[in-house]
Amino acid sequence: MAKKIAMFTGGGDCPGLNPVIRAITRKGLQLGYEIIGVRNGWKGMIDRDTIALDRDAVAGIVHRGGTILGTSRTNPRKIEGAVDKIFRNFKDLGLEALIAIGGDDTLGVAHDLFTKGLNTIGVPKTIDNDLAGTDYTFGFDTAVNIAMEAIDRLHTTAESHQRVLVVEIMGRHAGWIALHAGMAGGADYILVPEFSIDLNEVARTIRKRHETGTTFSIIAVAEGFKIAGKDITSTQELDAFGHVRLGGIGEQVANTLEKITGYETRHVVLGHTQRGGSPTAFDRVLGTRLGLKAVELIHQGQFGKMVALRGTQIVALDIDTVTKPKLVTQSLYDEAKVFFG
Ligand code: F6P
Repeated sequence: MAKKIAMFTGGGDCPGLNPVIRAITRKGLQLGYEIIGVRNGWKGMIDRDTIALDRDAVAGIVHRGGTILGTSRTNPRKIEGAVDKIFRNFKDLGLEALIAIGGDDTLGVAHDLFTKGLNTIGVPKTIDNDLAGTDYTFGFDTAVNIAMEAIDRLHTTAESHQRVLVVEIMGRHAGWIALHAGMAGGADYILVPEFSIDLNEVARTIRKRHETGTTFSIIAVAEGFKIAGKDITSTQELDAFGHVRLGGIGEQVANTLEKITGYETRHVVLGHTQRGGSPTAFDRVLGTRLGLKAVELIHQGQFGKMVALRGTQIVALDIDTVTKPKLVTQSLYDEAKVFFG
């Protein structure tokens, strides 16, 4: 009987998940494994909600955003008896290994269960690009391009109306998307969670810019940027992993800048458009290569590992590497600063 590999996608979706699913399935089938898809993240492992994946099931998905397996932010450690159910279902399904495709939360659980004896492998994903161990996560490049295009578009309307436009960009703990999209799109100031900047300083920079002839400005702000050390949140509710829902920083920055400068200011929230739609070629290839490597590791009998991009190579690291955040460094922010104002 063929050995079985199961996989699921957990946490926020991101463009590039389907290429991973396709690569795991195609490579796994080639090596003689039976491939099982688990629906809706850890929830599907608890409920034993699965589908068989064959070549046809993963045909025509490489270019599609989202995940054909569905996703959830279910945290088994917070549900009575859920971890036991996962172990039982793993055994009853006759699995050789379980591939968790997710961010720090999903892979944190995968690490925990590995230490308890479950054969897990992690594939890191997030549009935020804030996972340690891997140079880039798939989904990030797509999100950056969407945000950059938005900044490009905002330029023409900001210029026509002589306005300041503040664009709120995703990035909970790290400002990678805002930094890259802001640099690529020529934003006049970039605000990221890693660096606390007084908005009076931003106002001074804009004023100087406007006093020397330019009549509009674009400010890119990551949703995790803090005011007076505090997150700006849309609700106080926490998700299963203890995260607040961020939202509102763009509006606050816009209101404050308008008040200080007197310049007419608007804000735009890009929100989930940054996670939707087709992955870029970069994200499709990265997702594909990570998926192939995950299957190779299982074939070699290596578990408790995550796959990662280092330079141009796909490597294997201990799965708990992912639980440390990867933040924007001072030197990168200094490079971006050259273009402020
Ligand atoms: O972690 C990815 C991310 O898109 C963050 O940038 C954002 O804060 C969060 O997910 C939004 O989560 P949700 O889709 O649950 O609102």
